[in-house]
Amino acid sequence: MELHHVYYPNEGPVGARYYGKTMLGCLEITKQATQLCLDAIDAVPFSGRGSCFRIADFGAADGGNSMALVKLLIGVIPKPESYLIAHPDVRVFASGTSFYKQCFSNNSIQFGFCMSGMFVLSRLYLSMSALPFISRPCNITDGLHSTEITVAEEREMFKRQAAEDWENILVHRARELQPGARLVIANYAADADNQSMGRTKRIKHNMFKHMTDKCRTLMDEGIITKKEFQNMNVKTYFRTEKELEKPLINADSPVYKLGLRLESIEIKLVNCYFYDRWLASGIDGNAAAARAHAQSYVRSIHIWGRNVLLQGLSDIRTPHEKAKIVDAFFQSYEDDVAKHPRDHGKDYVIAYLHIKKLE
Ligand SMILES: C[S@@+](CC[C@H](N)C(=O)[O-])C[C@H]1O[C@@H](n2cnc3c(N)ncnc32)[C@H](O)[C@@H]1O
Repeated sequence: MELHHVYYPNEGPVGARYYGKTMLGCLEITKQATQLCLDAIDAVPFSGRGSCFRIADFGAADGGNSMALVKLLIGVIPKPESYLIAHPDVRVFASGTSFYKQCFSNNSIQFGFCMSGMFVLSRLYLSMSALPFISRPCNITDGLHSTEITVAEEREMFKRQAAEDWENILVHRARELQPGARLVIANYAADADNQSMGRTKRIKHNMFKHMTDKCRTLMDEGIITKKEFQNMNVKTYFRTEKELEKPLINADSPVYKLGLRLESIEIKLVNCYFYDRWLASGIDGNAAAARAHAQSYVRSIHIWGRNVLLQGLSDIRTPHEKAKIVDAFFQSYEDDVAKHPRDHGKDYVIAYLHIKKLE
């Protein structure tokens, strides 16, 4: 089936609260997965008679960014038997279960999707040098994010953890999906040119590097300690195409044995919503507009970055002291963007996967 009309009515969050209002860039990722989801739903065997069609949205945040997509998908499920169509009071369930566990009963889901969620690792790998009984994460010596790792041993630990996690995620989904069911996953990834979220050729500053540099300055100025700097780690990993497809094409993998197969994979660049909006505005030189732009852009980093910084700060500090350091960090980041709005942005590099479970 074809997508005939633009169904995102307001180019913004629909019924969303803070997350949806702030993470407008992620909405863009979901929009670009729409046709893939429609094709996947088309391929699910479903008569509509006497049964119901269950859709799962894994890692939904407040649901604001997927609301328009879910509304569209409900509208295309075969009529009239589906109670989702026949009755206005559609039942929506939210589950607090991590996607690192099985969230639904065996063979119960016809279509599942996850938009920009499954790049979050279950944990940071234990340092090889740590004693087994000390549960401490692997710190990144020189940066906040795994893309900045300079120590081979650390790179290997992240790689291994990401592979283990990906297999684990897919094993659970394989059990939940009915035979013939489909799964669409949009995941932050690394492309063949080694571009990834916040690190693309068209934008001058690498986002994670910029954040690391600012934290390093805090360390050099004695505002935070070296240990605190090294404890500030983002628990995510951008898998390559090869890493993503491996458990789905390797006949020895438990994922493959449970019947999951890769229908398609495509890595695409999704332009930074904020950056493009600024370029399109054509108001370079307007300080008030640059400030407003910087505020909304940096808010979309602050929403997750705040915790990354807070988790690194020593508990010797009071909550007030920690908040002061973090607030100053983001204020200074906002100032950087307001001064040079054309140099900052976070494009997304997204792997769009269409997966089927054998009938
Ligand atoms: C970048 S947000 C994307 C949210 C939404 N899907 C969207 O497109 O805007 C990632 C989401 O994944 C969720 N998440 C991270 N780890 C998770 C886990 N293990 N189980 C379930 N959700 C998880 C986070 O809470 C967050 O809501």
